[in-house]
Amino acid sequence: MKIVGFGGTSREGSSSERLVAAVLRQLEIEHDASVRLFGGAALAALPHYDPSGPDRDEGQRAFVEAVRGADGVVIGSPGYHGGVSGLVKNAIDLLEDTARDARPYFHDLPVGLIVSAAGWQAGGVTLSALRSIVHAMRGWPTPLGIAINSVAQRPFDESGALVDAGIAAQVAAQAQQVARLARLHADA
Ligand SMILES: Cc1cc2nc3c(=O)[nH]c(=O)nc-3n(C[C@H](O)[C@H](O)[C@H](O)COP(=O)(O)O)c2cc1C
Repeated sequence: MKIVGFGGTSREGSSSERLVAAVLRQLEIEHDASVRLFGGAALAALPHYDPSGPDRDEGQRAFVEAVRGADGVVIGSPGYHGGVSGLVKNAIDLLEDTARDARPYFHDLPVGLIVSAAGWQAGGVTLSALRSIVHAMRGWPTPLGIAINSVAQRPFDESGALVDAGIAAQVAAQAQQVARLARLHADA
């Protein structure tokens, strides 16, 4: 079972990237998944999506191929100005390259969604925006989306370890929800 995670910001210690990594780690350890993370730095290296393509650089091709081969996906975005960040949306838009595949976009895939914002309101609306995007791209957002308030909550210690028990429980629950459908997909 292959799971691809992407998201985060190019900020050192990005909380949205760390949360995606935490769900992937859980999938790897508890659910025997093979995982791949495209974090903030990898997303920042992707050129702006050009609909007139088809020339793509190595990073773009690696990202699209990884999603093409995935049985499940995890996406994490910061709440930027009340919505999904440009960095994350640029990566999502690149998946238009899968539009003519036998299995386009996130078709039939479970997609775990994560948002980190400085306030509660942006967390909720950005999570809702990500759900709409995944629906439009034929995926199945997991019932549990994770939205954290990076000012009111401090999920990670200085070493980057996830130390908030409530958020760790959400990470474990989301990994389990992704794994359940991804296993069916992988065995089909
Ligand atoms: C350009 C920009 C726009 C932001 N807009 C919002 C916003 O509208 N609402 C909010 O609650 N936080 C906003 N924030 C704060 C980030 O969402 C917050 O710091 C988040 O935890 C950053 O994620 P990261 O740790 O992965 O970098 C903004 C931050 C930046 C840099």
